[in-house]
Amino acid sequence: MNRHLAPGSGEILSASEYEADRIGFLTQGTTRHGDFWEFAPHIYVAAGPELTREVFRRTGAQFSPSRGAFPLPRGVRRALTPGTLLPESLNAARRCFRHSGTTEHTAMVAAESAALARDWPCGETEEVMPRLKRTFSRIGAGFCFGADAGALTHAEAALARTRDNIPASTLYLPRWVPTVTRLRMRRRINALAGRIGAVMERRLAQGRAMGPDLLSAMVQASSDHGTPPGAPIAYLLSTILVASQEMPTRAGAWLLLNLARHPQWAEHIAAEADALPLDGYRVDAGHVARLRTADAFVRETLRLYPPNWLTSRIVVQPTDLGGHRLVPGDRILVSPYLLHRDERHHDRADTFAPERWLEVSSPGTTGAYLPFGAGPRLCPGASLASLELVLVLAMTARAHRLSCPEPRPYRLDTNGALTPAGLRLVFHPRG
Ligand code: HEM
Repeated sequence: MNRHLAPGSGEILSASEYEADRIGFLTQGTTRHGDFWEFAPHIYVAAGPELTREVFRRTGAQFSPSRGAFPLPRGVRRALTPGTLLPESLNAARRCFRHSGTTEHTAMVAAESAALARDWPCGETEEVMPRLKRTFSRIGAGFCFGADAGALTHAEAALARTRDNIPASTLYLPRWVPTVTRLRMRRRINALAGRIGAVMERRLAQGRAMGPDLLSAMVQASSDHGTPPGAPIAYLLSTILVASQEMPTRAGAWLLLNLARHPQWAEHIAAEADALPLDGYRVDAGHVARLRTADAFVRETLRLYPPNWLTSRIVVQPTDLGGHRLVPGDRILVSPYLLHRDERHHDRADTFAPERWLEVSSPGTTGAYLPFGAGPRLCPGASLASLELVLVLAMTARAHRLSCPEPRPYRLDTNGALTPAGLRLVFHPRG
């Protein structure tokens, strides 16, 4: 059995005890030992805005991200290392992810959000994450592949199912152990990348007019440069496709839970959303900019429940952090969750108070708010995520009042993303 050390106490815990309250340990450890402390031999926690930002900022230099459970074939991993993908294609992708690029997809995102709001089953207790996931998955596919999105859904859903069922034991095993789950996942990724490659070739063969989607932008950039788009683009897009629904699904679930728990805010959001056209395809960036209460509610939800609550980095060069000497192989944990709930940086840190985002000096200006990370690995999908979360929230609040069927209608899962696993809510249609 894996054994773990409780912070500061020297007490050894079983794996299940440790799993049960990882957040509690991190919080207690930081309260007792300050912003830098040893969690277990060679594993350190860096807290507070300065150290957290520093770790994010130095990623790619002294720190490397630890690889998740996404085993790309080795040749492709090499092809995706910085400097090997055509810079023109990457720049084109960056432009698509900017605020100005994502607003081009406003109508598609609004139409998907309106469809989701219409389809919540009325008056019944519903497990919310599967429907949220389908919606974010369709939005992600539309953003990446435009009119060709439908050709990818089957392969993407198969990969998503495999990722959903990764046993915790697989995450703790060394990366080279070829577990059944890992082999299956690799097959699924290859299948998805293969489908993307086929779409790419079809478009090139047909010389099809390019739309605002990510694939078009990347293919166009490499063709302009005289380079045929290759497997790296297909694999990069498959990782983006997966990322486009994993975190938003968790964030969306926390949002709906908060909507059920804070009916007064729900009424404000519904009133604001009444100004949206009923037909999602007629919603534009101007409408979204006026959803200020919904936007504040989303930001506050991401503050208290950042899906990416804990991130780790491996030290790759001898270096100092906060006056401490680190050697290659050491691991540093940083936690947006700890940062967001730190009373030194957030007034009434544990209270759900969206109004703080409507004030002039909002928490976003203090450097102590990092739901999308920071530095070179800052989430490229932040703008798209904000757009879709605001619209899903507004459309759902306009159509339904939500309630919780029981006091704690979910199981807190901290294994990977912060997740209200199995969240069940009741949707009461507004008259
Ligand atoms: C609420 C929604 C989201 C949250 C909270 C979130 C959070 C994050 C965070 C914190 C990271 C950095 C991880 C690290 O530093 O180790 C990240 C990376 C990433 N995110 Fe997001 N994300 C969200 C939505 C999205 C969406 C919608 C997309 C794509 C359309 C996306 C694509 C990615 C990709 C591709 C990376 C890897 C970037 C890299 O390795 O350089 N994310 N995300």
